Formats: sequence, C-alpha cells, structure tokens
Amino acid sequence: MICLTLSGNTLSSCLDEIRQNREYIDMAELRLDLLDPEEQLKAASFPEQAGIPLILTMRRKEDGGRCTLSEKERRQILLSALDGDFSYIDIEEDIKRNEVEDKAREKGVRIIRSFHDFSGIPDDIYSRIYRLSERGDVAKAAVTPHSIHDLLKLFRIADELKDVPKIIIGMGDWGIPIRILYRKAGSLLTFACSGEAVAPGQVSAKDLKLLYRADRVDERTGIYGIIGNPVLHTSSPLIHNLGFHAINYNAIYLPFLVDNVRIFFALAEYLRMRGFSVTIPFKDSVLMYLGNISREVKQIGACNTVVRMPGMWKGMNTDYYGFLNPILKDIESGRIHNALVIGAGGASQAIVWALRNRGVKVTILNRTLTRAEKLARLNICEYDTLDNASKYEGKVDLVVQTTSVGLYPDFDISPIDFHFTGKEIAYDIIYKPRMTKFLRDAEAAGCTLHYGEEMLLDQGKLQFELFTGYHYPKDAAPGL
Ligand code: ATR
Repeated sequence: MICLTLSGNTLSSCLDEIRQNREYIDMAELRLDLLDPEEQLKAASFPEQAGIPLILTMRRKEDGGRCTLSEKERRQILLSALDGDFSYIDIEEDIKRNEVEDKAREKGVRIIRSFHDFSGIPDDIYSRIYRLSERGDVAKAAVTPHSIHDLLKLFRIADELKDVPKIIIGMGDWGIPIRILYRKAGSLLTFACSGEAVAPGQVSAKDLKLLYRADRVDERTGIYGIIGNPVLHTSSPLIHNLGFHAINYNAIYLPFLVDNVRIFFALAEYLRMRGFSVTIPFKDSVLMYLGNISREVKQIGACNTVVRMPGMWKGMNTDYYGFLNPILKDIESGRIHNALVIGAGGASQAIVWALRNRGVKVTILNRTLTRAEKLARLNICEYDTLDNASKYEGKVDLVVQTTSVGLYPDFDISPIDFHFTGKEIAYDIIYKPRMTKFLRDAEAAGCTLHYGEEMLLDQGKLQFELFTGYHYPKDAAPGL
C-alpha cells in the first residue's frame, strides 16, 4: 500500500491533500501533531470525511514529530480521536499498554508499534522489530542509513524478518531504494508525501504510483537502476520506467546513491538486479568489477551501462552512441570534418573517442592543459588551453561543450569566450538547463544547435535495448 503522510495543519487542508492524491494512494496517515491544537480535537470526524483507510499518529518531538504535550495530554487527544473509525494507530515502542491501546483494540483498530532512529541503524534492530511485532499487529522501524552498506543491511534485515508483519523505512537519501522497493522488503506499506517531503527522503505519492509503479512490484519484477553520487536529480528513471510501461514490461528502474561501488555490487546481487546505468563519478571505478567489457568500454575507458550475464556483469558504453546519433548525418555527409571539444573530464572521454572513431579531426580545449594532453594522446588529436579558444574561431565545423560550466543554476556562464561565425554546429551536453549560455551565444550567431537532452535520450534508448532486448517504444518519453 502507498500511504500518504498528511502534512496539513487543518483537517480541511488534509482532505484537500487526499483529494489531490486520491488516485495514487491506498491510505493516509493523519498526523495529529502537525494539526493546529483546535483541529486535533476534531480529528474523530476525519475518517468519515476522508473515505480511505487511515493511520492515526501523534508523533512526539523526540521521534521526529511536533508534539510537545505531556504524555497525559497526548493520550487524551488520541483517545478522543479514536471515536472515529481509524484503521490503524501508531503507538511508540516505549509506551506501555494503556487506555489508548485498550480502546483501539476494543474498536478493532490495528496497532502499529514503532520506533525511530535519526542517527543510524541500531545494532539490535532485528530483535526490536521482532519484539514490537509481538506487542502489536505491525512493527515499524524508521531508521537512518548513511551508506550503501547500511542500505544493504536494511534489505538483509527485512529478508530475515520475512514472516513478520512490518514496515521498514530508510530515512534520508540513502534510504530511498527501500522506500520504493517496499514490497521487495516485505513492508506492509510505504509512506509518501504529496509534494514537499514531510520526512527526509520521502518520495511523492504520484512518483511511487505512476513513475515507479511501486505497488505492483512482485517476485518477477526485473530491478534496474542508476548509480551515482549525486544521483537523485537524474532523468534516467523517467526514460526507463516510461519505456517499461509502454511495452508492459514488468520492471522498475530507480536511483541508488552510492559511496562504495564494491558494496553496491553486493546489493545488486542481493536484489538480483538485471542491470544498471552508471554515472559520475563511477564510470571508471566500476570497470574492475566487470567480468566482461565491450570493445567501446575498453577503448573509451569508461562504462555507463552494466547488464547481468550468466555468472558475471558485462559493461558497455552507450554515451558515445547517444552523443553521436544526433550528428551522425552531418558527419556522414561530410558537413563535420573537424571539431573543438571543450573539456577533458569524464564526460569528454566517450565524446572524443566517438568523434575520432568516425574520422573527425578533434582539438581538445581544457582549462588544465595536462588533462587535455592526456586525453589527446589517447585519441591521437590536438589540444590547447581554454584561453586560446579564439585561435579556432571560423576554423571548426562543430563545437562541443562537455564541462560542467553552465549547469543549473548557473544560467549565465560559458566556459569559453568564443565568437561563433554562424556556420558551426554547437552541441552542449548539459541538459539542465536545456538552453545554456554556450548555446545562447551560438544561437545568436545563427548556428545549428544540439541539446544535451538529445544525447541523454539517445544513450538511454540504446541502454534500454541492452537492458530489455526491446527497441525503445516510440514517444514513450515525451517532454524529454
Ligand atoms: P568529470 O571528470 O567527472 O567529468 P570534472 O573533473 O569536474 O568532472 O571535469 C569536467 C570538466 O569541466 C573538466 O574538463 C574541467 O576542467 P579541468 O580539467 O581544468 O578541471 C571542466 N571544468 C570544471 N569547472 C570549470 C571551470 N570553472 N572552468 C573551466 N572548466 C571547468
């Protein structure tokens, strides 16, 4: 079940939240502690108006909520709310059996026994969940993973407690995969927010339902993802999940924040993942864990696509194709003979290789000359410093921008001071924003433009084929 955590301070704003999210959710949690005091007293009327199963919760400050009342006052408010027909009530681990629990039991309200740990994962998590499950109908543990190792630990604990009715939540960015794969972890439900997250790392109800289809994950669902750091901003989940939906392919693709590639591979094995994308900064470090690599990966020295093969992982590179595809016709027609590539970081490796592989003459311009020199040597091309950019004005057919300069929110900077003649093709691999300062300068001169989102989509489409064996469905990712 997808459970919306209501964040309003009045019952009517909570009702609005339910209405806005109704099609994405199975139930909601009414957080009395977030309501204004006079609204708390009217909570008993809420279940009838809400029309969906509800969890009743009054979270104390020490558990991450806002309630600072005495225990007696809190009990009184909960007791009065229990006059309404709530489906569940959340009672914290340390609260001894009292009249709230008695009333809930009498009324057939199911008891969630919970604990929160905002600092980490307690050593005794296993026994605590087990004990809580015996004191209520469902045990809930909301803990805070700080690494990919912690995330793996949580999945393992969930597995060991397979037969225990429970909800395991990984708070914060590291916990996002277990929130999305809640069914894989055997959790009764996952908590979602309507827009703004109420708890750290929460995913919106709309994304859980429509983008991830988290409530449909079953034993046979193929698990795919993307590893990176940072990674939560990427558009790849959109590309792949929409592709899966369009061809009715039972699979899910989600972001994994990673700090240690080796441990991620253990998690990928544990989840029986079928494949994953790799982004900055792991395109090189992933190589040593692969049993097989494609010719392109060998030559480029970077891998952005990993797929499961019998007994090993295979690494491929679709970045070079994603980059090349939008300009392939211009290369084949002879319009592009020579190119200026700005930047010599990770992203430009595949680009320089792709251009050289197609016989385009390349000059690499980089702020740090030694890096440009190294990449130029590998690919047999020229190099220079950024300061000399003007030397190449009017002499190149293609200018490619591969640095991070101009990336959101820096709308107004470009790495080069370059006068376009208007005959060049300008290509920026940044996709947020779509129109960078570099491209605006080129457009003002009348150049043909290519956008980062073209590369992103084309590399994703080929990756989709490698993941699934199917062509990427036409028009599955509109707006990209
Ligand atoms: P990665 O290697 O992961 O792609 P990176 O090390 O940040 O990321 O390199 C990206 C590219 O952006 C490099 O070419 C880098 O130039 P240096 O080799 O001189 O570091 C370039 N870059 C980053 N910030 C820059 C800036 N402010 N001005 C010019 N170039 C910049």
